[in-house]
Amino acid sequence: MEIKILKSYKELSSTVADIVETQIKEHPLTKLGLPTGSTPFGMYEEIVNRKLDWSLVITFNLDVYLMNVNHPESYQNYMRKNLFDRTNIFPDHSHFPFRPFSAFEDKIEGSMGIDLCILGIGTNGHIAFNEPGSSFKTRTRVVNLSEQTIEDNSRFFGSVDDTPKQAITMGLETIMESKKIVLMANGDHKLNILNMAMNGEVTEDVPASVLQNHDNVEVFYCD
Ligand code: PGA
Repeated sequence: MEIKILKSYKELSSTVADIVETQIKEHPLTKLGLPTGSTPFGMYEEIVNRKLDWSLVITFNLDVYLMNVNHPESYQNYMRKNLFDRTNIFPDHSHFPFRPFSAFEDKIEGSMGIDLCILGIGTNGHIAFNEPGSSFKTRTRVVNLSEQTIEDNSRFFGSVDDTPKQAITMGLETIMESKKIVLMANGDHKLNILNMAMNGEVTEDVPASVLQNHDNVEVFYCD
């Protein structure tokens, strides 16, 4: 698979924001799958500055920590702060994985599926919180985070002890049903796993490698 190399984080952010902008302008009733983490910060900033009309857009976040949703580092707070409170999206058009998970899946399916899903990639090859070893057939569920992911995410929580150990994530099969997928990766600590995922063996040990089985994926990287 082609990995498109961009010159800077700014260019990575604006390139993915361009794709989101085109999608919303051409299809106002778009359904988006949305990521959190540090990589998409710049992309959300770009999108907000473009003052798009979100009144018909429906969003599904990829994952949430199992934690108090009012915690400053909850993904619900992250999304409010970085996107939702800064656009005209309707509060009840933005969805986070919820119980029963079959109802969350039905919500996606009932809205005719995700048109554009934006992903990051973890240093261990996870997409959303589908950790290494996740079956390609997984749907939305509770997962235990890997030691690597807890360690990586502890930078947001101050210590490993205070970092959530479990999450709810869309499954790999759920993500793969998206019509178009864009993966963004930032930093040379991601390059090795990105190459393995896109051009190595398709294996459940590297969850992002499942994307090789999708026919509409774009991958962007900057160091
Ligand atoms: P990051 O996380 O953007 O904070 O590096 C990416 C991910 O874990 O999917």
